[in-house]
Amino acid sequence: MPRVAYVNGRFIPLSRAAVSVEDRGYQFADGVYEVIALKQGRFADEDGHLDRLGRSLGELSIAWPMPRPALCLVMRELVRRNRVRNGGLYMQVTRGVAPRDFKFPPPRVRPSLVMTVRPANLDPVERLANGVRVISLPDIRWSRRDIKSVALLPQVLGKQKAHEAGAFEGWMIDDDGLVTEGCSSNAWIITRDGVLVTRHATTAILNGITRQALLRIAGTLGLPFEERAFSLAEAYEAREAFLSSASTFCQPIVEIDGRPVGNGHPGLLAQRLRQSYVDGVMAGSPVI
Ligand code: PDD
Repeated sequence: MPRVAYVNGRFIPLSRAAVSVEDRGYQFADGVYEVIALKQGRFADEDGHLDRLGRSLGELSIAWPMPRPALCLVMRELVRRNRVRNGGLYMQVTRGVAPRDFKFPPPRVRPSLVMTVRPANLDPVERLANGVRVISLPDIRWSRRDIKSVALLPQVLGKQKAHEAGAFEGWMIDDDGLVTEGCSSNAWIITRDGVLVTRHATTAILNGITRQALLRIAGTLGLPFEERAFSLAEAYEAREAFLSSASTFCQPIVEIDGRPVGNGHPGLLAQRLRQSYVDGVMAGSPVI
């Protein structure tokens, strides 16, 4: 399988792909990113991810590295060159390369654009059949979590802690004891009364593109849902719990902090939502 990356206008073998040591992403985490799943040659929620990329860039006053239609062409060309049908595309835009200085560089400095594609199993049969465990962690991030920034150190530490505890994900808890989201996913519960709950989208969380799609699906299916914060105590008592992201779609959770969720098996509603989401992705046109 060839591994080809796109770096600032060129397709190059991944092993030789590099940016300058003075790239502001490297020195200041001054950049944003997106992860877009590829399922059987189809991008999942491409428009939503590109809309959010535009929003993140706008919030940080970083220009688009190229017009959006051109970006879409590069994405497709990279997928074709890598011959990946199932996996994910990673895209990162930083403020560019300039001598290290906190304030913005002059306008002639162009944003850096890097893209990679890699194969991944988006239908991990065993993980879906067994569900996953999560642990809770304090949310130690900054207050603009709505921006998909490449500054991910709190999430790196959280994921490692979860991994060491034998868990798949860490659920981050704010100062009020409320769940914000997972280290790289949004957090959901289904209450004993059958209400789907996920935190409302403010600067406290990343408004997941998969989250938005699942809310639309819930609306279409006529499932009752609430966008509001929920506490860890409420999550412990939930009938079901699951997480959502571009790389997992909708993944049932069977244990939180060592306590079984509901009957300890993947929830039926979570599985139904996942299926509807996948059906929606499969209705799109393949790019490869
Ligand atoms: N993470 N919340 C956080 C903090 C995330 O990092 C992510 C995605 C999500 C889910 O967003 P979406 O549904 O748009 O993927 C929520 C990606 C997958 C990552 O960093 O790899």
